[in-house]
Order: sequence, then C-alpha cells, then structure tokens
Amino acid sequence: MKLANLFGASCLMLSSLVSSLVIPNSAILDATKASINALNTYYDTTTGRWNPKVNWWYSGIALQAILDYMQTTGSEEYLAMAQHTIDIQRAPIDWYPQGGGDFRADSTDDTAWWALALLRMYELTGNSTYLDIAKEDEAYIWKYWLPETCKGGVIWNIPDLKYKNAISNELYLELAASLHNLIPGDTLYLNRSITQWEWFNGSGMINSQYLINDGLLEPDANDSSVCRNNNADVWTYNQGVVLGGLVELHRATGAQGYLDTARKTADAVVNSATLSPGGILTETCAGGSDSCSINGWSFKGIFMNRLAKLNKALADNPYSEYIRNNEQTMYSNARNGSDFYGGIWQKPFDGEDLGKQVSAVNLLIATLGLS
Ligand SMILES: *[C@@H]1O[C@H](CO)[C@@H](O)[C@H](O)[C@H]1NC(C)=O
Ligand SMILES: *[C@@H]1O[C@H](CO)[C@@H](O)[C@H](O)[C@H]1NC(C)=O
Ligand SMILES: *[C@@H]1O[C@H](CO)[C@@H](O)[C@H](O)[C@H]1NC(C)=O
Ligand SMILES: *[C@@H]1O[C@H](CO)[C@@H](O)[C@H](O)[C@H]1NC(C)=O
Ligand SMILES: *[C@@H]1O[C@H](CO)[C@@H](O)[C@H](O)[C@H]1NC(C)=O
Repeated sequence: MKLANLFGASCLMLSSLVSSLVIPNSAILDATKASINALNTYYDTTTGRWNPKVNWWYSGIALQAILDYMQTTGSEEYLAMAQHTIDIQRAPIDWYPQGGGDFRADSTDDTAWWALALLRMYELTGNSTYLDIAKEDEAYIWKYWLPETCKGGVIWNIPDLKYKNAISNELYLELAASLHNLIPGDTLYLNRSITQWEWFNGSGMINSQYLINDGLLEPDANDSSVCRNNNADVWTYNQGVVLGGLVELHRATGAQGYLDTARKTADAVVNSATLSPGGILTETCAGGSDSCSINGWSFKGIFMNRLAKLNKALADNPYSEYIRNNEQTMYSNARNGSDFYGGIWQKPFDGEDLGKQVSAVNLLIATLGLS
C-alpha cells in the first residue's frame, strides 16, 4: 500500500469489496503508529534489545515488526534504530559464546528469526552486509540438517543435537526460499528449500486436519528409522511461518501446489473452533486459565504476519475479512488507553508483556497492508 492512496479511489474500491464495515486506513495507520510507540517503550538502547530481561528472540521479532512497518508504509522512521539493534547484536552473545557473533546461537530458530529480519533490512537498504550475514546464518543452520534421524530435518536444540520440530524447519524453509528469491541466478538455496519442504511435507508433522503439531518424537529403541508426530501443541505460529515459506517457494518456482497446500493450513486455522472461536485467533494456552507465557502471546502476531503474506499472494485475497475482523476486535476490546494490548483479543486488556505487544503490532501491520 502506498501512503498516497490512503484516500480516494482505494477507499471506494475497498468498500465495494468488503461487505462488513470498513475502517479508514488513516485510523489504522494511527493505531499502528501508537502501538509501535508503546512497543518501543520496551527498547533499551544500551543492549539494543526490546526488554533485555526476556529471551533474545523476542527482539528479533520486534525488529522484524518495525521493518515490516517501514516496508508496508514506505516510512524510514526506524531505520537508525534497526541498524543500531543489528550492530549491537552482531557481537558474540554472552549466554552462548560457542555460537560466535552474527546471530549464531544455541537453537536454530533463534538464528533464523534474526536472519529473516536481516533479509528485510537488506530489502529496505540494499546494504549487502545484511544479505551476507543472513547467508552465513543459513549455512550455520544447514549444518544442523541431520539425516541420521527422521531421514532429514534441522534439529532445534544445538547443544544436545536434539528435537526435529516445526518452528526450526519452517523458519529454515522461509529463510532458504527467501534467499533464493533475493539472489539472481541462485540454485543452491532453491535446492535446499525444496529439499526442506519435501522432507517437512512427508515428516508427519502436518496432521490429518492440515494443522501442524509441535514436532517429532525421536526414534526409539524399537524403531530407529521412523519419526512420528508427537501430537504436541498446535501453536498458531507453526501454522503461520510455513505459509511464508510456501509463498516464497511459489514465487521461486511458479508451482501452484505450494499455494494450494498453504491454503489448506490457513483455512484449517480460520475455520477451527479452537484456534478461531467466533472468527478470532486464539492461542490454545489462553483457554480457561489464561496461562500463556510471553512465548505463547507472541505467536498470534507471527501467524497474522504470514497469513497476510499468503493473502496477498492469492488472487482472491481470501483472508482480508478475517484479518480485519481480528484487528477490529482486538482494537475495541484488548487495548488500553496507552495503546498497549492484552493477549486475548476478544477480552479486556489483561496486562502487558513484550509478546502481547508484538502480536498486536503485527496484526495492525497486517491490516494496514490489505489492499
Ligand atoms: C551496511 O551495514 C553495516 C552493518 O550495519 C554498516 O556497518 C555499514 O556501514 C553499512 N554500509 C553502508 C554503505 O551504509
Ligand atoms: C539438490 O541437489 C542434490 C545434489 O546435486 C541432488 O541430488 C538433489 O536431487 C537436488 N534436490 C532438489 C530438490 O533439486
Ligand atoms: C518398545 O517395545 C516394548 C514391547 O512392545 C515396549 O514395552 C516398550 O515400551 C517400547 N519402548 C519404547 C521406548 O517405546
Ligand atoms: C504434500 O504432500 C501431500 C501428501 O503426500 C501431497 O498431496 C501434496 O501435493 C504435497 N504438497 C506439496 C505442495 O508438495
Ligand atoms: C496501559 O498499560 C501500560 C503497561 O502496563 C501502562 O504503563 C499504562 O499506564 C496503561 N495505560 C492506561 C491508560 O491505563
């Protein structure tokens, strides 16, 4: 969306496409800016992190959110902040010095969140340093593609060389396919992303409803060759990141099957009575006791970010109304007077944390990017 199109023709077009109520984009832009101002109250200039007391990867997704905001609006408001964040985080991290600098850490997904943000930074600035770091990070993660168990897949836990899970493999897919799309003439990353997808699609992590469980059971003494779905939680972010990877693979190859498969998972989420009760995205940990951790609260925004990416790639934009309804519900229920958002979008503000706020920012940006 171009800022110049906020009013006029694009509004008329929107109102004819969307039967339910349409909020002017200017109001969504204001709400998004206010949510980012609230997000940035967590920012600590010294460490270059949003709330340095919580896990490092949240700063990776907060960085991704402000970069996505700039890509969506054309603003350059947070570029200096993004560069400062990246420059500081490139130092070796104190809690896992074996990982070295440039975002190598103790779990493969941590590295991948940062690497994806670096690719966005490269798109925004054209500075090839960011692309080069993302390439090093891909190579670091690929070292942990271990075919000895489960016939392939990236492990999640580096010190223990354990656990083939959904998030690490989905992020790797999105990273490798995005690298291919950003590097003219590439064949390496295309090969690896297709290898990754074919493994993932056959791994058993995608269940019979096209929803993705947390990971695979390690092979046991009785059967060393096969890994099985561990039937653990269906987190919303695991339904999301895969959509981003499949959109990139479709862009790389033109093959429609990737979008068809993405659509099955996205439809399964938006039509699920547990994940979208009343049409509003809900993390299952938020049931009854409202006991999601900061982890769990951050997931919904990651899903919305990738759902918006899929929505754009599909000619009929089938998820626009779902995204808008979620944004409206969240804005009218879960926001407090200072533009902090609670974790349950259908309910009143229930206190802040970084995960809840990044989720809200991501949903607002997803809405802002609808066209
Ligand atoms: C490119 O980015 C790196 C890392 O932030 C920075 O050190 C360098 O000055 C940038 N180069 C240019 C030309 O801006
Ligand atoms: C990737 O490259 C390897 C080695 O050249 C080849 O055996 C494999 O078939 C390729 N995979 C894909 C999906 O192209
Ligand atoms: C292996 O099979 C035996 C006999 O069926 C069973 O008692 C045991 O629990 C199995 N081990 C594992 C790790 O599943
Ligand atoms: C994923 O696997 C299923 C089942 O084997 C297959 O029908 C489908 O075409 C695959 N999807 C893609 C995009 O490769
Ligand atoms: C909203 O929540 C934030 C974070 O807890 C708090 O600092 C702020 O005072 C609240 N605003 C209002 C108007 O209650």
